[in-house]
Amino acid sequence: MAKILSGKEMSEQLIQEQAVRVAQLHEQGIFPGLAVVLVGEDPASQIYVRNKGIACEKIGIHSQTIRMAEDCSQEELLDTIQKLNNDPKISGILVQLPLPKHLNEEEVLSTILPEKDVDGFHLMNVGKLSTGQTGVVPCTPKGVLYMLKQAGIDLKGKEAVIIGRSNIVGKPAATLLLNEHCTVTICHSRTQNLAEHTRRADILVAAIGKPNFVTADMVKPGAVVIDVGINRLDGKVVGDVAYEDVEKVAGWITPVPGGVGKMTISMLMENTLEAACAQAR
Ligand code: GUN
Repeated sequence: MAKILSGKEMSEQLIQEQAVRVAQLHEQGIFPGLAVVLVGEDPASQIYVRNKGIACEKIGIHSQTIRMAEDCSQEELLDTIQKLNNDPKISGILVQLPLPKHLNEEEVLSTILPEKDVDGFHLMNVGKLSTGQTGVVPCTPKGVLYMLKQAGIDLKGKEAVIIGRSNIVGKPAATLLLNEHCTVTICHSRTQNLAEHTRRADILVAAIGKPNFVTADMVKPGAVVIDVGINRLDGKVVGDVAYEDVEKVAGWITPVPGGVGKMTISMLMENTLEAACAQAR
């Protein structure tokens, strides 16, 4: 039976530590603040945005949610971002993705000041990560790495296989694991003989967005299985990994809910605190 990598426990620990750090920053006259921009009414995005606000409240930082109409123009959105760039109360800006199709996401993300880009999606931060320089690291992959390190899992020289090549998770997760000296394979929807790749993995990261996609026959016995998926199936939240099946062969596994999702929010708080400190310097 796999050991559980509990994002819930790790994030509760982090919330306590972060609350202490925030109080110390306040004493130094540093007041971290996070702005979340939500365009439209996507139900999943609404839930994420609400959870981000709750996390800010728990650790004691200022948060602001800006809701914009589904049909808002590119100019209106860029104008909102510019105002937040210039707002000294705001240390971090996050534009919730996906955006409605008529908006140019690349332009939006590159309008956020790199030092306020707590998602790490600005090209400057993407470039820093890929060249091994210190920049802002995207929250979900950062959370994945945090969990692996917290569990004391040795990464050097290990085979890491990532299913999914998104800019938000797959690609930055691959880069982070490469920087940790893993041998990295990125699989995706056009990969042939997927299970042949996944069965080699010491570390298997599932970020596909398909419920229960990874089954026990795709997993090497003893592997660390990290489930990034958050899917709805018959009114239940399930991951990309068929948990009850895979926990019998894996060495470690992250549950859904209570796994990576919780860490994503914790890392967003982390990035916001780091941004506030960097801007105070
Ligand atoms: N949508 C899904 N994941 C994310 C994320 O990490 N950041 C933002 N901005 N949008 C998302």
